[in-house]
Order: sequence, then C-alpha cells, then structure tokens
Amino acid sequence: TVLVVDFGAQYAQLIARRVREARVYSEVVPSTMPVAEMLAKDPKAIILSGGPSSVYAEGAPSLDRALFEAGVPVFGMCYGFQLMAQALGGTVDNTGSREYGRTDLHVSRSGSTLFEGTPDEQQVWMSHGDACSAAPEGFAVTASTDMVPVAAFENDERQLYGVQYHPEVMHSTHGQQVLEHFLYRGAGLTPSWTTSSIVDEQVEAIRTQVGSKRALCGLSGGVDSAVAAALVQKAIGSQLTCVYVDHGLMRQGETEQVEKDFVAATGVQLKVVDAADRFLGALAGVSDPEQKRKIIGREFIRVFEQAQAELVAEAGGQSGAAGEYAFLVQGTLYPDVVESGGGTGTANIKSHHNVGGLPEDLEFELVEPLRKLFKDEVRMVGQELGLPEEIVQRQPFPGPGLGIRIVGEVTRERLDVLRAADAIAREELTAAGLDREIWQCPVVLLADVRSVGVQGDGRTYGHPVVLRPVSSEDAMTADWSRLPYDVLGRISTRITNEVRDVNRVVLDVTSKPPGTIEWE
Ligand code: XMP
Repeated sequence: TVLVVDFGAQYAQLIARRVREARVYSEVVPSTMPVAEMLAKDPKAIILSGGPSSVYAEGAPSLDRALFEAGVPVFGMCYGFQLMAQALGGTVDNTGSREYGRTDLHVSRSGSTLFEGTPDEQQVWMSHGDACSAAPEGFAVTASTDMVPVAAFENDERQLYGVQYHPEVMHSTHGQQVLEHFLYRGAGLTPSWTTSSIVDEQVEAIRTQVGSKRALCGLSGGVDSAVAAALVQKAIGSQLTCVYVDHGLMRQGETEQVEKDFVAATGVQLKVVDAADRFLGALAGVSDPEQKRKIIGREFIRVFEQAQAELVAEAGGQSGAAGEYAFLVQGTLYPDVVESGGGTGTANIKSHHNVGGLPEDLEFELVEPLRKLFKDEVRMVGQELGLPEEIVQRQPFPGPGLGIRIVGEVTRERLDVLRAADAIAREELTAAGLDREIWQCPVVLLADVRSVGVQGDGRTYGHPVVLRPVSSEDAMTADWSRLPYDVLGRISTRITNEVRDVNRVVLDVTSKPPGTIEWE
C-alpha cells in the first residue's frame, strides 16, 4: 500500500488515482492520523499531498518528523514538499511572491531519480505562496523555476523526494512519469495491482466473509450495484439472490435490460418486484423535490424489506439456518468512503438515496467489494467479469429515476411523455457516437410550464422538455457539453414531432456549480 496523506486539498484523491494508474495500490489517509497509525498500515511508500495553507499560517496542518525516520520512502508535493523541507532543516520563506498555474520548470536531470528521461524544460502546474530557498542538508536540488530556486529535491540514500508543483494534474506534462519514477525507482515498487488481481483478491475475501450463508443484493440497474453483484456471484454463486425493484420511474427498456442482459451475463438469481402502483400512489399530488426524494427512498425500503422477508421465508423453509440471508451486498465506492470519513460537515444539497443499498435496521452484515475502488476501476472490474458493455459503460442514472426529472407532480401520463422524449435523446446521442464524450444527459419535463406553439397549422399549448448534457469527471462539478448543433437539431425535431404534448425543446447551458446536474 502507498499512503496518500491528505492535507485538506482536493488533490489527495487525484493523487491516489494516479498511483493506481501506475498499477500500485494506494489509500488516502487524513493528515491528522498519528504517524504510528500510518506506519501500522505497513506502507511501502508515503505521499504528502498539497494543501491550501502556508506552513506559516496559524493552525496550518503539520507533520510529525518521525515520518521521515521510519525508513519508508516519502514523496512530498506542493504543501507536502514545504512541510518536508521545513521538517528536515531546509528553509521555507514566506516571500509573498506567488506562483499559480502553468509554470516552466528548469530541470537538472543528471543523476536525478525523479526526472530521469524527462526534458530539461517542462511545463508544470504550480499553486503556492511560500517558497523553498534552501534544501535540507544532504539533499540534491534537481529543479528550479524563475521564481523559486528550489522547486524539487531528492535524497536517494534516505529515499526522500519532493517537488514544489502538482505532478498529479494533467497540466504538469511529465507528472505521471515523475510519479512513476518515485514509485518504481525511488521506492522500488513493482506495478502489480491489476484488475485481475483485484477480482481474485475480492473473490477470496467475499468467500471468507460469507462462508456458507446467503447474501442479498439490491440491483438498481446502475454500474456499481451490477458489478458488486457480479463479483459476489462469482465468489458464492447460488448463495446470492438479487432484488430489483421496478418503481415505475425507470427509462424505456431499462427493466428489461436488467432482467435480460444482467442475468444472461452472470446467471444470477433475480427477483423482480413490480412496485409501480405503490410508488406512483405515494407520489400522487406531490411536487416538492425533497418530498419526492424522501417518499421514493421510504417506499423503496419498504418494498425491499418485503421482498427480503419473502426470500427469507422461502429459503428458510428449504434449508434451515443456512437459508438465512445474513449479508447485504452494496456497491459503495471509494470516494463515498473517503468523503464520509472526511469528517467536515458538508451541506445537504439533495437527499441522495442510494437505491442499491439500505436499510440499516435490517441487521444485515454488509458486503462491499468495491469500497476500495474508483468508478473507472469498477468499470474495468465489470469488464474483467464479462459484463456487457451496455452495463459497464452505462452513464449514471439517479436512484429516484424519472421522478426527479418531472418538475411538478409525477403521473403515469407525464412519465410516458418523458420516457418517449428521453428515449429519442438517448437514441440520437448514441447514434452520433457521443455516449463516451458526455457524462450523462438528463432529459427534464417541465410539467407545470406551458407555452404556445404551432404544429400542423394549429395552435398548441404544450410543455417544454429540457436537455441537460454535461461533462464531468466525478459529478461533483460539471460543465454543459457543447453538443454539435446538428445533433441537437435532430433531437429537437424528433421530440416535437413524435412526442405528444411537447412543443418546445430547450438546452440547459449551466455548469455545476451553480446548477446541479439533475433539476431536482
Ligand atoms: P446532482 O444533481 O446532485 O447529481 O448534481 C450528481 C450525480 O448524482 C446523480 N444523482 C443521484 N444518484 N441517487 C443516486 O443514486 C440519487 O438520489 C441521486 N440524485 C442525483 C445524478 O444523476 C448525477 O450523476
């Protein structure tokens, strides 16, 4: 394991991903973790991330210098670099001069472990106020910039390395190479963390955890729960049963896809519960977004519990104690784990209902085989397990489904209208080869808004549909996608021609923030 010590910047997760791209397993830990606890994890290397602070700022996160005495290779980046310089006896000046963004780095490569084989001049991404003016004793200075005399240093003997810039961001043109040099050459690690090793390791762990008992998995149709289920299926086969709740808020063809493609690819036992009446009944008359979300979440738990009770009764009847469903499989991902461990309270923008998981009071033990993985790694695992492209490369779709894409009350008729418009948009985007380019494209029905139109020589008074194509890396931030006009044109023409009640198609050109991706 490589530990990435998080000094409170948004860069730590990115660094962890870059380390994994180098096929070395990595984990993020907070900088408040005592060094003894870090060392107890037996890390093969430690990376100190950037941070927002100056080492001189009041309350700035600090580091116990014992970290540098433990014989573990360390790589400091940005703030981590300055902490390192300070702790080891170098000089960090509060110069007041700042360097932000694209910067030219002048490299002295001769004998450098980090910069071997990279150009003398390279573009890097800087973001700092303080500057290191003298390296600690025993360290070789390997790079500088016009403003900073010591922009990188290394001490091969002690396996300690540092750079003032951010090698993890893509604007640092040779950043990944420098990081890999640290991992392979500086720390002597081998790139052995592969998708197949993840699968083998998880299958083993699941078998150990579940033993001869049974497990239950809520399938949502999304990538995460599908891959988690496939992984558990590979490990324990018929001891796993999946439950798919069709809440009637799915898009066209979605339920069929889960039933057919997923079962065909995995051979999993699947219980499909048709609960559309129940959900639509509970949603009748409700147009407040948060209330809708809460209702959908609550109903989901009830249906899931009921399905679970039925399964327990069936299984218990057959095989006694071994018929018990003692485990619940969830598709929790690493960013969820890091964020919920992060501690600092974030505002509740929306009540996200993780439809894959739930309910706490059911006394299940959780099986979370993806809790160490990032989304792109989950997709690779899915591929490795032989899941079809349509499942593995699926764009995100919210658990509450179309229920939060109808602005206004959710009714059967409105769902039909939205489903038809959404199917056209998806068809055209796929035909134009844009599925990989966009993160997702919610289609939203403004059911409480009407506008005047003219269709077939007659006046219409219909509803607008909003296209919300976005590009994103992790859904935390997003930008609106600049789709080609001809594709937008085709979608608009087809929707207004083919979908009754819709006489206008509009494009959402808002980034996130300030808009969220979904409208509710
Ligand atoms: P927002 O609208 O918050 O969405 O920008 C960010 C991402 O999350 C998806 N989303 C959800 N996913 N349950 C989910 O499983 C939810 O309740 C939920 N709400 C939003 C959304 O589609 C986007 O990808």
